[in-house]
Amino acid sequence: MEKIQNKVFKSAKEGTLFVANQIKNLIEEKAKSGEFAVLGLATGASPISLYKELVKMHKNGLSFSNVITFNLDEYYPMEPQAIQSYHRFMEEHLFSKVDIPSENINIPKGTLSMDEIQSYCKDYEKKIDDLGGIDIQILGIGRTGHIGFNEPGSTSRSYTRLVTLDKKTRRDASKDFKSIESVPRKAITMGVGTIFKAKSIYLMAWGEKKAKIVSKAIESRVSSLIPATFLQNHPEAIMVIDEPAATDLKRVKTPWLVGDCEWTEQLTLKAVCWLSEKLNKAVLKLTDEDYNEYGMGDLIAQMGSAYELNLNIFRHLRDTITGWPGGKPDTGGQRRPERTHPFPKRSLVLSPHPDDDVISMGGTFIRLIDQGHEVSVGYMTNGSMAVHDEDVVNRLSFMRHFMKTFELKEDKIEEFSVKIKSFFQSKDSSTIDLPEVVEIKSLIRKREAQSAYRFCGVDDDNAYFLDLPFYKTGKAQKNPISDEDIKRVKELILEIKPHQIFVAGDKADPHGTHQKCLEIFRSAFQELIDENQKWVEDCWIWQYRGAWLEWPIDEIEMAVPLSPDEVAKKRSAIFKHESQKNGGVFPGDDARAFWERAEDRNRKTAELYNQLGLPEYQAAEAFKRLRF
Ligand code: F6R
Repeated sequence: MEKIQNKVFKSAKEGTLFVANQIKNLIEEKAKSGEFAVLGLATGASPISLYKELVKMHKNGLSFSNVITFNLDEYYPMEPQAIQSYHRFMEEHLFSKVDIPSENINIPKGTLSMDEIQSYCKDYEKKIDDLGGIDIQILGIGRTGHIGFNEPGSTSRSYTRLVTLDKKTRRDASKDFKSIESVPRKAITMGVGTIFKAKSIYLMAWGEKKAKIVSKAIESRVSSLIPATFLQNHPEAIMVIDEPAATDLKRVKTPWLVGDCEWTEQLTLKAVCWLSEKLNKAVLKLTDEDYNEYGMGDLIAQMGSAYELNLNIFRHLRDTITGWPGGKPDTGGQRRPERTHPFPKRSLVLSPHPDDDVISMGGTFIRLIDQGHEVSVGYMTNGSMAVHDEDVVNRLSFMRHFMKTFELKEDKIEEFSVKIKSFFQSKDSSTIDLPEVVEIKSLIRKREAQSAYRFCGVDDDNAYFLDLPFYKTGKAQKNPISDEDIKRVKELILEIKPHQIFVAGDKADPHGTHQKCLEIFRSAFQELIDENQKWVEDCWIWQYRGAWLEWPIDEIEMAVPLSPDEVAKKRSAIFKHESQKNGGVFPGDDARAFWERAEDRNRKTAELYNQLGLPEYQAAEAFKRLRF
C-alpha cells in the first residue's frame, strides 16, 4: 500500500536530525573531493528546525563554503525585505548564520517584471543543470499535496515557472499575511520535473495536520491532482515524518486491515471504536462476523467472543463520561475519570491565548465553578497579534469622545490618536506594530478575557495574566522559550498548588503558540516534580484541545456533557471576546468563527458517543490526561 519510501520518527526533532546528517555527510564528502554540494531548499514551517540544526552543526565546525543552494520558490510579486518573503526567511533562518558565499545562493526573484519571468526561469533551470543537478532536495508538503508551489494539475514535466496559487494554499499562508486578501495570488516555483532531477529527495512533514495529505501522497495512485504522488516514481525519494504525521497511514490507523497486530488495550479500544463507526452500529451490537470481516478475527479469538469485548469497551467509554469534572462528592468515584477527594478542589485553567479557556472548555469551566471548586485561570500570552487595527482605532476614538463629553482634561490623547492612526495608514502586511499598538491590543484582549471569566464566575483575584515573553515578537514567528517563560508559569502553579490543572495539549495551532505553551508548562511542572514538592504527586493534568482538532475518541479519558443551555452559556462566554468575533487577524485554514468551531466540535463529540451506543447529549468537551 505504501509507494514512497518513508521513515517515521518518534519526534520531529529526531527526523530533523536524520535529514541534517544526510546534508552534513554530503557537504563533507564533497569538500574532501574539492566539489560543490548542491542543495535544493524549501521554506515554510517544516524545515525551520532543520536550518536550526544546520546552524548548530556550522557552529561545531561544518563549513558551508562549498555549498550552492537553489530555493524552490518565492511569492510573486514579493520584495525581498518583506516579512513574508522567502529571501528574508532564508536569510534569517540559515544564510546569515553560516559561511555560505552569497554568490552561491539562488532564490527565485519576486521582483521581476512579467516580461522577464520566462527567460529568468529558463536560466534558473539551466544553472541547476550546468552544476550537474541538485544533490539533495528538501521538500515540505502543502495541504493540497503541493511540492514547491506545484499545485494540483501540475504535470511531471513542469519546470521553473510562474504559477497561480491554490485557494487552500493561500488560506494556509494567510497565517503569515494577516488576511487572505494580502496573500499574493502567484509564485515562481521550480517544477515537478526540476525536483525530479535531484539525486535524492527528503520530504519532511511534522504533526497531525499533515497526516491526511501524507497518507494520500504515500498510498494513493500517482496523479497530478496530488503532485507529491509523483515522488512515488523517484528512486531516491524519502518521506521523513514524525509519529503524528503518520497517523493516517493504513498500517498505523487500521493495522488490523494490513496484517497481524499485537492487541494492546489501547489498540483494541481504537479498533472497536473504528469498527462501530465504520458500520454505523453501536458497540454492543457488533458481532463475531463483523470482527472477522474486518481483520479482527484474532482479537475475537483472544477475547473469547464479541459479547465480552463489546461489553468491556462499552464500559470503558461509559466511564469516561462525567458531569463532574472535579470529581463527584459523596460517591466512591472509582468509575469516574476524576477523584472524589479532595472536594472541593483547587483547579487551575491555563489558557495559551486569552480565549482558549472558554473556546475549548467553557462548559467545563462553568461547571467547575458551579460545583464549588476554587477555580483560577492563567492567561499565558497577551494575544495581541489577533486584534484588528480597526479595533484599536475604535477604542481610541471612544476614549477621545468620552473625555470630551465629561470634560476630562487630557489633551495628549488627541496627539496620541493621530500618531497611531498615521502609523496604521502607512502600515502594510509586513510592518511590525509599534509597541504602543501592541500594548493597546493586549489591553483589549485582557478586558475581554476579564469579562469572559467574570461571566463564568471567576473572581479577579483568581485571574492571572502571565504575558509570556516568547510571544512578544510582533510577528507570527515567536521567540524561543526562555527561563523567564518557565519561571512565570512555575510561580503561578506554586502559588495555587492546584489539585488539577487544565492545559492546552494542542499541537496543531497555526503559529505554534499552543505547542510552545505546552512545552513551557511541561518544563515548569517537571521542575516542580524534580524539587520533590509533595503536593505535586496529587496534581492531575488534563489536556484539552484548542480550536482546531478534537482528541480521537479512543484517546478521550474524560468527556463532560453539556446541555443545550450550557452550550448557549458557553457561546455567550466566547462572545465576550468581541475582537475575535468576526475572525481574528490570522484566520488560518478554517473560515469558521471560533464559537462555531467550538460548537461543531462539541456536538460531533457527543454525536460520536451516541453513535457508539452511549446516551445522546447535546454536546461534550473532551480531555485526556497528561502523565509525567
Ligand atoms: C516552501 C514550499 C512549500 C512548503 C509547503 C509546506 O518553499 O515550497 O511547498 O514546503 O507548503 O509548508 P509548511 O512547511 O509551512 O507546512
